[in-house]
Amino acid sequence: LVAGCGGSPSATESKDIKIGGNFELTGGVATFGQSAANGIKLAFKEINAAGGVLGKQLVFVAADNKSEPSESTNATTKLITQDKVVAILGAVASTNTLAAVQVASDNKIPLITPTSTNPKVTVDNGKVRDWVFRSCFIDPFQGTVMASFASKSLKAKTAAILTDNSSDYSKGLTQVFEESFAKAGGKVVSKEAFLQKDQDFKATLTKIKAANPDVIFIPAYYEEVGRIVKQARELGITTPLIGTDGWDSPKLVEIAGAQPLENTYFSNHYSPEDKDPKVVKFVESYKKEYGQTPDALAALGYDAALMVADAIKRAGAADPAKIKDALAQTKNLQLVSGIITLDADHNPIKSAAIIEMKDGKQVFKEKVNP
Ligand code: PHE
Repeated sequence: LVAGCGGSPSATESKDIKIGGNFELTGGVATFGQSAANGIKLAFKEINAAGGVLGKQLVFVAADNKSEPSESTNATTKLITQDKVVAILGAVASTNTLAAVQVASDNKIPLITPTSTNPKVTVDNGKVRDWVFRSCFIDPFQGTVMASFASKSLKAKTAAILTDNSSDYSKGLTQVFEESFAKAGGKVVSKEAFLQKDQDFKATLTKIKAANPDVIFIPAYYEEVGRIVKQARELGITTPLIGTDGWDSPKLVEIAGAQPLENTYFSNHYSPEDKDPKVVKFVESYKKEYGQTPDALAALGYDAALMVADAIKRAGAADPAKIKDALAQTKNLQLVSGIITLDADHNPIKSAAIIEMKDGKQVFKEKVNP
């Protein structure tokens, strides 16, 4: 260091490589951010124990976005300007990631979301965002999987959709489901909406009940889904309730109760019951580290951490622009949630798992390939 220049060593000279995490550690979807961060920490611990990347240790700097978009923007700014990270992992919820992509792009720092499935996250009005990547599939796939499950497996001819209008994720999935269900010969007979933090869904559910749908699609997050499922059953709605990855939380059963969750299904990114050796090994190390079975968020966080480590290695330097170029070339990475090869839109093509809730437990029902 040159005396008087007053700075710390630049990112490329430092013996550590700092990676930021912008996550929902508290607030409405706190189990999402906590699981994703735990998956990342485990991956970094294993990588560091094996010698690190380019001879350097990976350091994870986590920032809490409190499950709010404005806080997600703040957390991203802080990670870049104060902590001087060379890449950012996060956020979980698409709306929160969308609140971060511009800051990352303006500052030329690559951002990899482990879990945000809305298409707009990596593609803005038909133009791919150079600095943004993900390690999960996208909602046009997930929504189609559930529309086809409703029509083929559940033999539903009519559906109702209950949308969270405060979420880009929920609004996007509503559109995809409606289109794919129609293509499969079904009809959406009722469309209702709510907002995050809503408590009472009875009036809305009563309207849906009157439309008498064969299935109700609820593309939303566990807090609201938990309350919706509980209140639907209280109103005597016995039809199958189906949803998407946002249902994946240990809190879902706590909020809804095991019995109301009978006859419900959702799409997800992986199942801890999968016998693939990579899944078995991950589940074992995660349980040892945290005493819990890893949910999909943990698996995707772990995979995103391996994805960024792989990119830094191929970049040959902890330099944000080089990491960005290497990320775009991600190919054939064999990870826990599947094989990752990024397409031109920075999205991997991966399979989905359909989960059934039985006795308050997630049961792996089937795997759906793209
Ligand atoms: N896909 C959700 C979103 O984009 C986030 C999520 C992923 C939630 C995986 C749970 C499990 O908002």
